[in-house]
Amino acid sequence: AETLQKLFDDGFSGLNLTLPHKIAALQSATRVSDAAKQAGSANTLIRGEDGWHADNTDGSGFLQDIQRLGWGIVGKRVLVLGSGGAARGILAPILSQNPSELVLSNRSPWKPEEIAEEFKAVGVIRPATHLALKGDQFDLVINATSAGHQGMMPKMPANVLAKEAKAYDLSYGKAHMPFAIWAKNAGAEKIADGLGMLVCQAAQAYALWMNKKPEIEPVLKSLV
Ligand code: ATR
Repeated sequence: AETLQKLFDDGFSGLNLTLPHKIAALQSATRVSDAAKQAGSANTLIRGEDGWHADNTDGSGFLQDIQRLGWGIVGKRVLVLGSGGAARGILAPILSQNPSELVLSNRSPWKPEEIAEEFKAVGVIRPATHLALKGDQFDLVINATSAGHQGMMPKMPANVLAKEAKAYDLSYGKAHMPFAIWAKNAGAEKIADGLGMLVCQAAQAYALWMNKKPEIEPVLKSLV
């Protein structure tokens, strides 16, 4: 909070934050956007007259990347793995696209139940655990767990991917590998890591500060 106050006093126009500062950023803000409220965290601060205004561009960055890839959510059966901050941030954007079903699955069963209850006004989320998904099939599976950072992928029932299913990972780099291997073996038609989302959320933050949308593709090309 002290540093944020100093940056404000020094005249900065805005800043991005990442873990573990996303919650502190929210608490220090004088105004909080709906996206930041729903995510329960802020990744972008914008200078206001009365102090920092908090926003969260992770969800809109995710949607922008899904569109960039040409993957649809409308009418699709969507499964989100994980129930931490990362998962929470993409739920409202997914619901805004009218999937036919949104299932939230986690290792600890009470978290999806709590989140489903909390998001009731936004839309219907079916809570689950990974192994309880036996018999269900999805068109889009999104990995929002941090298991990849431990070199792991949660154990999943077989046949969870429908024909032509797509697999999207919020992780990138080494942490993406366990999910990528699982998705390939499970028969995913297409697999994407979270680098596109990283660039898109940054571009959306830039637009909030500068009123100008930067191009995504040249940045992505320079990163891969
Ligand atoms: P983030 O902000 O990145 O979402 P987080 O809030 O710590 O981080 O949440 C991490 C998520 O990854 C949780 O859903 C966690 O499951 P639990 O709630 O059961 O802890 C999930 N996760 C982390 N390591 C995992 C593993 N090895 N297997 C399965 N799920 C894992």
